[in-house]
Amino acid sequence: MSTQYLQTKLLNEELCKLDLSKYTTAVAEIHRHLETTKDEPTGWIHAPLEDNSELIQSILEVANEVKLNADVLVVVGIGGSYLGAKAIQDALTPYFGTHENGIEVIYAGQNLSGAYIHQLINSIKEKRVYVNVISKSGSTMEPALAFRVLRQYMEERYGDEAVQRIIVTTDPDKGLLNHMAEKHNYRTFDIPSNIGGRYSVLTPVGLLPIAVAGVDIVELMQGAKHAALDLKEESIEKNEAYRYAAIRHELYNQGYKVEMLASFEPGLANFHEWWKQLFGESEGKEQKGLLPVAANFTTDLHSIGQFIQEGSPILFETLIHFENILEDYLVPSDVRNEDLLNYLNNRSFNEINSISKQGTGIAHVEGGVPVVQLTLKQLDAYHMGYLIYFYMKACAMSCYLIKVNPFDQPGVEAYKKKTKDLLSTIKVSKGVTI
Ligand code: PA5
Repeated sequence: MSTQYLQTKLLNEELCKLDLSKYTTAVAEIHRHLETTKDEPTGWIHAPLEDNSELIQSILEVANEVKLNADVLVVVGIGGSYLGAKAIQDALTPYFGTHENGIEVIYAGQNLSGAYIHQLINSIKEKRVYVNVISKSGSTMEPALAFRVLRQYMEERYGDEAVQRIIVTTDPDKGLLNHMAEKHNYRTFDIPSNIGGRYSVLTPVGLLPIAVAGVDIVELMQGAKHAALDLKEESIEKNEAYRYAAIRHELYNQGYKVEMLASFEPGLANFHEWWKQLFGESEGKEQKGLLPVAANFTTDLHSIGQFIQEGSPILFETLIHFENILEDYLVPSDVRNEDLLNYLNNRSFNEINSISKQGTGIAHVEGGVPVVQLTLKQLDAYHMGYLIYFYMKACAMSCYLIKVNPFDQPGVEAYKKKTKDLLSTIKVSKGVTI
């Protein structure tokens, strides 16, 4: 039985016969572990079911203050401390300009580009600014450096008022950022200690920037709550997240080592990025895991479409399909018909896009690519909340199926350590290596 809100379907007929029943026992055991463990950061599993009205209210109050007193919110964070907010913002706010209920939200601290931070500072000079710095550890180099720059900028520009315009989202008990917030009296939002970075978009980490961008966070949380209820079932037949996890696990065992997530709405490009981090950082360890890659269709059908159709058979594809996208445009008729497109007169772009999704699925199946389709009713805050929760649950299950820890990221430390070592040995002065 599939839920009303999200359905997973493997399009390939011969693969549809996948025997998922062999995972019944393992999935049920993992489910019970996830539901009951107190030793792992699984707070995100039950959080949407708890009464979070006070927290939502306080986030909405601060978001309203920001919208009233700023033209732009600069969100400082990296990895799980920014990808979720960016994903939802891009999926649910206009392609051009800002949402009618929100203001511009831009991001810093997610790279070390000097050009990027230079241009960002220039771009905010004429705008009223708030800063939301987000870091659970409080010591990640990229956001810490960007915050150093932005804090000084805010102090020089706003003097004592800077304190009011800087909001800190961090661990409630420890870390450098927590100490700075206490010392300087910045307003803070807590990242619950039992929720890790890439599982934190439905906490203040994501909710404050998303609310400032104009997206309805009450609806987003409602969708997540509904998913938390639907995906509480332990059986693969009744739980779409577990079914999806079992399908991808089975394909992995058949030799497919890459999962390509694709959708047909460009606003989902950063949702793909959030998903890539969630699965890449959770699954990719101990020489195991599916490599998560993403494509934006139909754009990328004109770049890597060729490889998908006829290249090395290493990947399967997961297509996200929204049955209803609110805005649309009709193809105008044109008596000249010089472009020979009159056969499309008065059909809508979304209809053509949807048919092209169908065509792509059929072509890829015929090319031997396993295609999983995830269908949701509508692209809105409610369904995005549902989808986020679905993916977090599917990810935790997927990791346990390959017997890796979904909640750590030991491999990320390697580049941090090497960079730190190099920075203390290679001397740099005013941007020049000496
Ligand atoms: O998922 C994770 O835990 C990581 O990707 C972190 O979100 C990322 O490294 C940023 O860490 P922090 O919030 O501590 O700055």
